Amino acid sequence: MLTENVCLSGKTVLVTGVAGFIGAALAERLLESVEEIGIIGVDNMNDYYDVSLKEYRLEALKRHGSFTFVKGSIADKALMEAIFKEYNPSVVVNLAAQAGVRYSITDPDVYIESNLLGFYNILQACRNHPVEHLVYASSSSVYGANEKIPYSTDDKADKPVSLYAATKKSNELMAHCYSKLYNIPTTGLRFFTVYGPAGRPDMAYFSFADKLRSGNTIQIFNYGNCKRDFTYVDDIVTGVVNVMMRAPEKKNGEDGLPIPPYRLYNIGNNRPENLLDFVTILQEELIRAGVLPEDYDFEAHKQLVPMQAGDVPVTYADISQLEEDFGFKPNTDLRDGLRRFAEWYKEFYNA
Ligand SMILES: NC(=O)c1ccc[n+]([C@@H]2O[C@H](COP(=O)([O-])OP(=O)(O)OC[C@H]3O[C@@H](n4cnc5c(N)ncnc54)[C@H](O)[C@@H]3O)[C@@H](O)[C@H]2O)c1
Repeated sequence: MLTENVCLSGKTVLVTGVAGFIGAALAERLLESVEEIGIIGVDNMNDYYDVSLKEYRLEALKRHGSFTFVKGSIADKALMEAIFKEYNPSVVVNLAAQAGVRYSITDPDVYIESNLLGFYNILQACRNHPVEHLVYASSSSVYGANEKIPYSTDDKADKPVSLYAATKKSNELMAHCYSKLYNIPTTGLRFFTVYGPAGRPDMAYFSFADKLRSGNTIQIFNYGNCKRDFTYVDDIVTGVVNVMMRAPEKKNGEDGLPIPPYRLYNIGNNRPENLLDFVTILQEELIRAGVLPEDYDFEAHKQLVPMQAGDVPVTYADISQLEEDFGFKPNTDLRDGLRRFAEWYKEFYNA
């Protein structure tokens, strides 16, 4: 187990993508649990999905006096430089990105802008204004067409099957380079399908709930033969906080040059669930929460369809290194997590 070497109390932490699903949940946890922490949150509030959901998440954060919100893009180099200069963050968590595999097929430009240019700006700012730790989001999608499961960070991941995945893999390479050249401690986290209250409407569990509620038909890809490591958002947040407090150490090699203070982990549930089982539990929990009526004709609203371009049939994380280094493992049961999602959904949409 690694020892804590970054104390968050009394520090300023920059969270990018703070109005996003994971960013807002992380900022809330930090504001609630860490003494005298100051959070600077950046988000460009883009309309990739319902902006009112981003505003709703932000409203909750703005109740905390030590939260400062800056609306803007990480792709805006001058803005990033100004934020680092003014607030001098000790720890940076970069969650801002254009997410989504399918959208990267129809709208690739924004992935280059936010995920490549934006991340480059974050790295440059960390170079110009040294930080104790830069933690950034990567994705299970970097495993692309890999067939060996569970996916391990020791496996090669150089065959992405979407531009989204290619940008995330590029982030890992860029971070390694900046860790090596400028001795910046960086940790990349490959997230595996995160779900939960106030989640992302573009993700399957959320859009299924929307469609079932409005009487539309849901499409279950690959005829339901998909397995995902569905990871509850609170588990992800606990993992990220644990990681933030343990930065890779700065050391020099025999050549006198820095050994890159660079680490990379999978963070997922490590218990892949069949998509059909997931949908069945979701349906039951939507009924229990009162979103759907007791006698909902589920069979009439379900269509089994082939695989979509860019999707992979099984994602399943080997998280042994995460467990070993941080003594942490996601443990929220799927039914508990979906119950909390369904209850939140009922309240948010007054469904
Ligand atoms: N949710 C998942 O299952 C999952 C899985 C793998 C990786 N990830 C990664 O985790 C991170 C957070 O994901 P999320 O699910 O919270 O997504 P999200 O879309 O809810 O959050 C991302 C936030 O970043 C903001 N943003 C996008 N481009 C920006 C830019 N150029 N400048 C400033 N803000 C910008 C968006 O407005 C959004 O609020 C992302 O990097 C995503 O790629 C998420």
